[in-house]
Amino acid sequence: MEHRQLDNFPKDFLWGSASAAYQVEGAWQEDGKGVSVWDDFVRIPGKTFKETTGDVAVDHYHRYKEDIALMKEQGLKAYRFSVAWTRIFSEGKGKVNQSGLQFYIDLVDELIRSGIEPVLTIYHWDLPKALQEEYGGWESRKIIEDFTRYAEVLFETFRGKVHYWVSLNEQNIFIQHGYLLGTHPPAVQDMKRMYQANHHANLANASVIKLFHELQMPGKIGPSFAYGPNYSFNCDPNNVLAAEDAEELEANFWMDVYVNGEYPLVAWKYLKDNGLAPETLPEDTQLLKSGKPDFMGMNYYQTNTMAFNPLDGVSLGKQNTTGEKGTSEESGRPGIYKRKENPFVERTNWDWEIDPTGLRIGMRRIASRYRMPILITENGLGEYDTLTDKGTIHDDYRIDYLRQHIQAINEAISDGVTVLGYCTWSYTDLLSWLNGYQKRYGFVYVDQDETQNGTLKRYKKDSYYWYQDVIKSNGEKL
Ligand code: NOJ
Repeated sequence: MEHRQLDNFPKDFLWGSASAAYQVEGAWQEDGKGVSVWDDFVRIPGKTFKETTGDVAVDHYHRYKEDIALMKEQGLKAYRFSVAWTRIFSEGKGKVNQSGLQFYIDLVDELIRSGIEPVLTIYHWDLPKALQEEYGGWESRKIIEDFTRYAEVLFETFRGKVHYWVSLNEQNIFIQHGYLLGTHPPAVQDMKRMYQANHHANLANASVIKLFHELQMPGKIGPSFAYGPNYSFNCDPNNVLAAEDAEELEANFWMDVYVNGEYPLVAWKYLKDNGLAPETLPEDTQLLKSGKPDFMGMNYYQTNTMAFNPLDGVSLGKQNTTGEKGTSEESGRPGIYKRKENPFVERTNWDWEIDPTGLRIGMRRIASRYRMPILITENGLGEYDTLTDKGTIHDDYRIDYLRQHIQAINEAISDGVTVLGYCTWSYTDLLSWLNGYQKRYGFVYVDQDETQNGTLKRYKKDSYYWYQDVIKSNGEKL
């Protein structure tokens, strides 16, 4: 659909940017913080690029005031960050660690003083190691109670201060990477166990959203889903069917549960037939149905192009979602679908597709299927940036990327989608989980090399100033 005239961005549109605790904070053992599964995982030789860790990360724990001052100067309207569960409960449950909580109280106060709306992510992958060891983390139903108690502490603490909450970040990624591909902790490769852990994550997510509503928290809550819409490779009906299957198993499989409290029909039958369906209790459906989110958080990087995959075809290797590795290699589920390269889009130096129209398509699909407002909780370009002698960073490629995606959002708004805001990934450069510090996403450059040697001094990139104008003009000046 072409629009002669695009609608304006809403007046209260949240022009934001995002980060996650493990990727920015550092201070991994300070003020009573416990050990998370990531603190542990990165210490296993060979798991991350040159054994890089988040022990120091970009030292946001000590420099948050400086970082927020940069946000304020830029005019940022919203900052999405995550709380490290292990700072609040060092062992995942028990007694609240006040000094850990204090860090987030100070952070939130500083944001509010600076006129920036905090967007708080409750869980961004850093599960307390103690819970993994005690009962297998997400593989046990016990996680539901502990996760809900942890969220309750945050709700009590930030009631009236934080109005936007993200429950789970990219459940589809941490579950698939953790239990199928084995590239994230706990590095399991077992599809049956994956679906079981995922079911518990669904229940925990619903339980927390239900509590939020019961407490009549002022504000909105929703999960952040890593949504890469699936395209058919061409109009061969077999490929179209493959793309639909992928949409069912890779997207509806999560979002239907969030919104309707039920697994989608075709996917559930497939799980049943293949002995993969999770064990459920009769009361599960009721809990799932009572935890309906207020918005859908969408993390968008790229789309997936799908073709039919014969039974003896390729199996799941790499994930074309927001995993950290390149995506051009073929992979898929035998008998269903396999990924192909999309010949119509360009790719980044990290081999990720650049497809702004895919963002618009994804937003429309969510809005039409679920009738929900959308908060874009992540979108951005990971690249190698160069700091010049003058202390500048000319990241025009990032500006181009963001401009195209913001235009796509504007088109989606004009198509009828309700959008609460847009958080770029990321604010400062940060740790890329598996890839160390070589891949940069930020508006703010952090002086450190790929394995973290450097002063950690902050420098504004060209994109920092560009986004400043975008915000000031409420998206008019792109
Ligand atoms: C997904 C995750 O939420 C974030 O932690 C990650 O660094 C980016 N997207 C890029 O892969």
